[in-house]
Amino acid sequence: MQIGVLTGGGDVPGLNAAIRAVARCAFKLGYDVVGIRNGWTGLLESHIEPLNLKSVSGILHVGGTILGTSRTNPLKREGGIERCLERARDAQIDALVVIGGDDTLSVAAALFKAGMPVVGIPKTMDNDVADTDYCIGFNTAVTIVAEACERLHTTADSHHRVVVVEVMGRNAGWVATIGGLAGGADFILVPECSHSVDDICNHIERRCREQGKGFSIIVVSEGAIIHDVDVMEDLGGADEFGHARLDRRSIGRALSKAIERRTGFESRSVVLGHLQRGGSPTVFDRVLATRLGAAAVDLIKEGRFGYMVAIQGSRIVPVPLGEVAGRIKKIDLELYRLAEVFY
Ligand code: F6P
Repeated sequence: MQIGVLTGGGDVPGLNAAIRAVARCAFKLGYDVVGIRNGWTGLLESHIEPLNLKSVSGILHVGGTILGTSRTNPLKREGGIERCLERARDAQIDALVVIGGDDTLSVAAALFKAGMPVVGIPKTMDNDVADTDYCIGFNTAVTIVAEACERLHTTADSHHRVVVVEVMGRNAGWVATIGGLAGGADFILVPECSHSVDDICNHIERRCREQGKGFSIIVVSEGAIIHDVDVMEDLGGADEFGHARLDRRSIGRALSKAIERRTGFESRSVVLGHLQRGGSPTVFDRVLATRLGAAAVDLIKEGRFGYMVAIQGSRIVPVPLGEVAGRIKKIDLELYRLAEVFY
């Protein structure tokens, strides 16, 4: 048995822990493992190399992905799926482990439908993959957001300022909600719930009047909807999965300006950007990645393909890839409402 493994889409801390888990568990069973470079590009172009104990050693705590990644979409290439099947056959890959978010996993689902034995592992800092409570990388990202909010509290307080913290997450507000909740945000803005500048400013003024708080930390998701805030509408070209770059909206900067204009509070904005995806994975992500990687190899051993291994509650379970593909998991509104209690 030879397993191929690839990582696709945006990198996150914890990918290497998952690659290591897949490889180490496979070696224990006497299987061979090959790494496919740079996501689907590597399969389309046959950039495939053997992995061994040495190549996956010392990477558990290392961010990024030793295999490299890309946002290449074989479904957008003429005969792309057939080419992937052919290349996998040429490389004598009997089973493919695909570590990715919704985009990468939707290609995995299509490949499975076309006859490739595939198992998926969910990763994305956005945490928006359906049917899994957590994706690899999310916990590290929200830990970074929470720490940034903590640090911004002291400087905002000293200068009596409003600081707007823009976070990633695309069209789901998980990063803002959980990062903001853990970081003690005074208002959280997400794509799932729209607000007006008035809502935000009234709250900032109330905090000052009723609690004597002359500063506020506002966490805003890059894809948030805020009435009366002028965001950049022309976001330029989309990637091969049809996603435009939401950081180009500059919503944090626009909101900070609108708050200053409307309240007179001096305001600043900070874009956390790719800091949220850098560095070492948290303990939670290391353990999650290890459990999911091991579970993927278990499925291969049992000859069960076409599944994504997911965490539901504290259990790792297989869910059909076909049911996951194309669905986005929106935030848990109960958690969002809970964060509001502490504004
Ligand atoms: O999907 C993960 C993510 O970090 C999003 O939150 C963000 O919108 C996007 O990737 C950024 O992509 P890139 O790394 O290509 O700038």
